[in-house]
Amino acid sequence: MLKLIRGITAEISGTGENAIYVDDAVSRLEKLCAERPGSVSLIYMDPPFMTGKKFEIKAMVGKDEWKSGKGTLVLPAYSDTLKTEDYLALMRRVLCLSKQLLAPDGLIFIHVDYRANAYIRLMADEIFGEDRFINEIIWAYESGGRSKYNFARKHDVILLYAASDAPDLHIDDVAEVQRGERKNHMARGVDEDGRTYRHMTVGGKTYRYYDDEPVPPSDVWTDVSHLQQRDPQRTGFETQKPLKLLERIVKCASREGDTVLDPFFGSGTSLEAAAEYSRRFIGIDSNPLCSELARARAGENACIIRPENDGAPLCEAERVEGITFASVYLEAFQIEEGLLPIETGGLDAVNGWAVGTVKNGVFYEIASETRSRKEPALKGEIRVPINETGLCLRISDVLGRRFFYEL
Ligand SMILES: C[S@@+](CC[C@H](N)C(=O)[O-])C[C@H]1O[C@@H](n2cnc3c(N)ncnc32)[C@H](O)[C@@H]1O
Repeated sequence: MLKLIRGITAEISGTGENAIYVDDAVSRLEKLCAERPGSVSLIYMDPPFMTGKKFEIKAMVGKDEWKSGKGTLVLPAYSDTLKTEDYLALMRRVLCLSKQLLAPDGLIFIHVDYRANAYIRLMADEIFGEDRFINEIIWAYESGGRSKYNFARKHDVILLYAASDAPDLHIDDVAEVQRGERKNHMARGVDEDGRTYRHMTVGGKTYRYYDDEPVPPSDVWTDVSHLQQRDPQRTGFETQKPLKLLERIVKCASREGDTVLDPFFGSGTSLEAAAEYSRRFIGIDSNPLCSELARARAGENACIIRPENDGAPLCEAERVEGITFASVYLEAFQIEEGLLPIETGGLDAVNGWAVGTVKNGVFYEIASETRSRKEPALKGEIRVPINETGLCLRISDVLGRRFFYEL
């Protein structure tokens, strides 16, 4: 029988340079403002939208569900039911704190829809300044049905503001060759090499726009589709945004090594995009399940911090130079009776597990195994250096809980 360890306050894997906080956005942003004001290059936020609804996570249990991407375990994700005045008070505080955290050349993208747009636009104009407004990006998509009673609502709004009059926005980095025929008033032509272009003459000067040259997107984004039901990116989190949307934002509004912050990270889409482009990230979400989703997507070099961890050191993980390795096997994990509406066996109820060491209430990950759509099955074997003493086990279950055991 393994001995359960209590009071683990942080978990570090790899370099631990990225931070995932299980916390309320306002209280964590207040602490970050005190610790590191003006240090964040890009803030993306996708807060609740004033929908009045409760959202769910369809968690996948076991190898077969991970393979199919269809989860059967329904867990609460978040409740978007604040009264309008409470919602606006929350957003005002989040935006004010975000402003303090932004670097002088920083940028903030605020993702809303038709419900919160008008309120948040006026609020952000007031907080950041009307002259810091850059764009109202319309993200238009085609998913879902059509209504008989109104024009189907098929777009979200992403408000873009700068921290100063010299933002580091490099739109050319997200230029793409346009697919399909471009319809506009310009005349068409073909040059001597057979390349097609459009041209216009202004003030005696002729401008040519080649069809095969990358063009930066306008403020209407129609080329990023919403996640389809069977999209391999799907984590089961109901309001998950597509990675392509966040890749575009991260690429044009930050550079390698910059810090990206998302105070409502949900399933961790922005954190995955940040890691993909070698940005550092800070994610905050009050739902502990979200930290487990984000761990699977971007947890390689992250420090996961829980609220009770206030004051614990955010130290660099130690590199383990193992000479000889041994295997640790995990064969079965059973969840307490009555907690799951389905039967599980073997490692079905495990989403991931890791072997590490514990010092001062911090779990330092040495090696781990996490389910993903690419690797839906857990091998149940982790190799660790034999010279490590005091090894511990971390098990993350399908309910988003983590357990630590002495080995
Ligand atoms: C729309 S979802 C974010 C989805 C995310 N962009 C994605 O791609 O998965 C909003 C998130 O905000 C979180 N949230 C709501 N109120 C919060 C608060 N006061 N502090 C921290 N997180 C909060 C919810 O738990 C939820 O995960």
